Amino acid sequence: MIFSRYELPVVSGHGRGRLLGYPTFNLVIPEGFELPFGIYAAWAWIGDVRYGAAMHYGPIPVFDDPKPSLELFLLDYKDDDSIVDILGVEPVRYLREIRPFASPENLAEAIGNDVLVTREYLADRQLLDYLADEASSYPRFEDGRIDYTDTPSAAGVGIFLEHDGKLLLVKRSEKVGSYKGRWHVVSGYLDEPVSLREKAEEELREELSLTLPSTLEWLFGPGFRSQDGHLLLFSCLIRLKSVPEITLDWENTEYSWVDITEIVRFDPVPSCLQEWAHLLAL
Ligand SMILES: Cc1cc2nc3c(=O)[nH]c(=O)nc-3n(C[C@H](O)[C@H](O)[C@H](O)COP(=O)(O)O)c2cc1C
Repeated sequence: MIFSRYELPVVSGHGRGRLLGYPTFNLVIPEGFELPFGIYAAWAWIGDVRYGAAMHYGPIPVFDDPKPSLELFLLDYKDDDSIVDILGVEPVRYLREIRPFASPENLAEAIGNDVLVTREYLADRQLLDYLADEASSYPRFEDGRIDYTDTPSAAGVGIFLEHDGKLLLVKRSEKVGSYKGRWHVVSGYLDEPVSLREKAEEELREELSLTLPSTLEWLFGPGFRSQDGHLLLFSCLIRLKSVPEITLDWENTEYSWVDITEIVRFDPVPSCLQEWAHLLAL
C-alpha cells in the first residue's frame, strides 16, 4: 500500500464518537481516494502540530450506516474548543477490517485496542526515523549497535513494571556509565533498529532475568526530548497480575516495589520522573 499525505476539510459527525469515549474528526473524503476500507494508524496535523491517530475509513456497520466515512481519533489531543477547519492526514499502517460489533460497548473496546496498537506502532516508527536520520552517522560498536558515548544525542527506553499501585525501581550499581547509585526503572539505550517491545523484553531478561507472558497489556508512550534536548526518551508501562521473581545482574544492586506516590522520595534519575509523567498523561 502506498500512503500519501492529504489536507482535508473537517465536517461535523453524528456525535456518537463522544459517547463511545473516542471523539473523532470527520473529514471530507477526497476524490479518487483509493485506500481500502479499514482501520489504520496515521499521523495527523493541526497546523504544524503532529498527533498520532487511529483512523477509520469505510462504512459504520455498528450503527447501520453504509455510507463511507473518514474519521480520526487523535491521541493526546486536548479539545480546547478551538475550531479546526483542516486536518493534515497521513495513514501509515493498515491495522484491521471494519467489523459489525454486536454493541457500541464492544466497538469501544476494539477502538481502545486500536489505540494501544497505534501507540506502539507509531513509537516504533519514531525510533526508526531517529535512527535513520539524526543518529545515522553516529559511531558503531563492532556488533553494529550505536556507541552513544560521545554523541550529541541518544535514545533510550524506560520500562515501568507496575503491580498493585507499586512500580519496580532498581538502584544503579557503581559499574554503570551514568547516575551511579541512583534509582531508576529498568532502562536501556535504543541503539539498534529493533522494536521497543523487543528491546524492553531484552532489558528485562538481562537486568531482572525476567520473561513476561506475551498476554500482558503494554502501553507505549510517544518519544519525547529530555529538557536539555540530549535524550529522545520512550517509556512503556506493563501492568503485572502478580509479583514476579527477580534476579538482578551487575547493572543494579537493589530493587524495590515503590508506591507510585513515593517515587520522588527515592531521588530517581531525572528522566525517570519525566518518563513517568508522560505515561500518566496518556
Ligand atoms: C479507530 C476506530 C475504529 C473503528 N472501528 C469501527 C468498526 O470496526 N466498526 C464500526 O462500525 N465502526 C467503527 N468505527 C467508527 C465508529 O463507529 C465511529 O467513529 C462512531 O460511530 C462515531 O461517528 P461520528 O463521528 O459520526 O459520531 C471506528 C472508529 C475509529 C476511530
